[in-house]
Amino acid sequence: MLCTPFFFKVLIVVQRKDTVLSRLIKDRIRSEGSMTFREFMAVCLYDPTHGFYTQGPSIGSPEGPFDTNVKFPAFAFALAQAVKQVDDILGANTRILELGGGTGQLGKSIVNFLGGQRNYVVVDLSSGLRVRQNEAGLQTVEDLMQVPSGPTVVFGNEILDALPVHKVMGIGQGNVLEFFVDLDEDGELFEILQPPSTPALQAKLNELHISLGRGQVGEVCLELRSVFQKLGSIVDPGYLIFIDYGDTASNLYSFQRRNGTLRSYYRQHQIYDFFYAPGEQDLTADVDFTAVSHEAQAVGFDGGTLLSQGSWLTNLGIHSYAKDEKALAVIEHEVNVLTKATQLGSAFDVLIFQTKGLPVGPGIGDATEPVKISHRLPSSPTVSIDTPGNRRLHLKW
Ligand SMILES: C[S@@+](CC[C@H](N)C(=O)[O-])C[C@H]1O[C@@H](n2cnc3c(N)ncnc32)[C@H](O)[C@@H]1O
Repeated sequence: MLCTPFFFKVLIVVQRKDTVLSRLIKDRIRSEGSMTFREFMAVCLYDPTHGFYTQGPSIGSPEGPFDTNVKFPAFAFALAQAVKQVDDILGANTRILELGGGTGQLGKSIVNFLGGQRNYVVVDLSSGLRVRQNEAGLQTVEDLMQVPSGPTVVFGNEILDALPVHKVMGIGQGNVLEFFVDLDEDGELFEILQPPSTPALQAKLNELHISLGRGQVGEVCLELRSVFQKLGSIVDPGYLIFIDYGDTASNLYSFQRRNGTLRSYYRQHQIYDFFYAPGEQDLTADVDFTAVSHEAQAVGFDGGTLLSQGSWLTNLGIHSYAKDEKALAVIEHEVNVLTKATQLGSAFDVLIFQTKGLPVGPGIGDATEPVKISHRLPSSPTVSIDTPGNRRLHLKW
């Protein structure tokens, strides 16, 4: 979601909503005991009936929960240029696979920009969103394993940030406890710390050389492994292109983000209570691009080039979208929002992989400074950026 301070107001609430899903979660905790934060997040987002995504939210519309890059047609235009570059390498009409297609708006626009006839498949866990994607004229499946192997370019705009994560806290000497969701004496949802639910959590942190300090909170996404194993078996040959907010592990698990990155959104507002309205609020965490690269490389993908959304869209020729003189001002504004470092250009990064033997992916070739993920230096806590008015802004995160 467009999660910079420019786009979100903060909603502070005292009274939680009594949603159907909150009642179901409480019943389950009463009968089965506490659940991991990961299970809570998975139920909130993907419960087969009451999950936030299952209900098919109107992402990108004024009454919807949040906006994404997809709101801007120029974004689809740039992605269509990426597909054309892939076609030049893999052959005309290479299959496009979109992971987490939202309302189907992106797929529909990309197909239109490519001339209307395209082998385009959306993989989406959400039954409600698959209905919307079908209405947009797109072919959908629920699971990657339903897709046969073949030459493919995969896009995922803000899918990785929607995968459920385990939430952990450092307790010294590299060890962690895990956050679970339980009921307090008033019967309200709250978080408690317990020994990890699975040794895979500590193993993942060790693999990434992450040692959380005492009291430092972080998230771990174990879901990535199965997603990439499936991608490894069906993308043959092809490219994976992920657009998302996140950082490399060394930055993500740093002192600057000592409270972790989990966030929640409710009707275009950021909300600080994860238990405010289960099933009606979104939950999301920054993507660990290092962990993503490990999983991609483990199943045989090469690359792992990380560059800012602004650089990538510019390399793809997004500025040539503004052709029609009449619409020029509107389009220029749209392109600026997507590419300027002060707006979304640096809020999102693009991470690209290719199967072995293929040239690097679209939009990288002319990049001034594509950054290999393993060589990316930790960023300083304070960065200076140029604003359009040539003022210098200091952002802290
Ligand atoms: C934040 S939304 C982004 C939607 C759209 N790409 C956009 O940018 O507007 C996340 C999307 O990923 C889907 N999703 C989450 N986990 C998934 C999974 N494991 N497999 C397929 N789709 C998934 C959700 O249902 C939803 O469509």
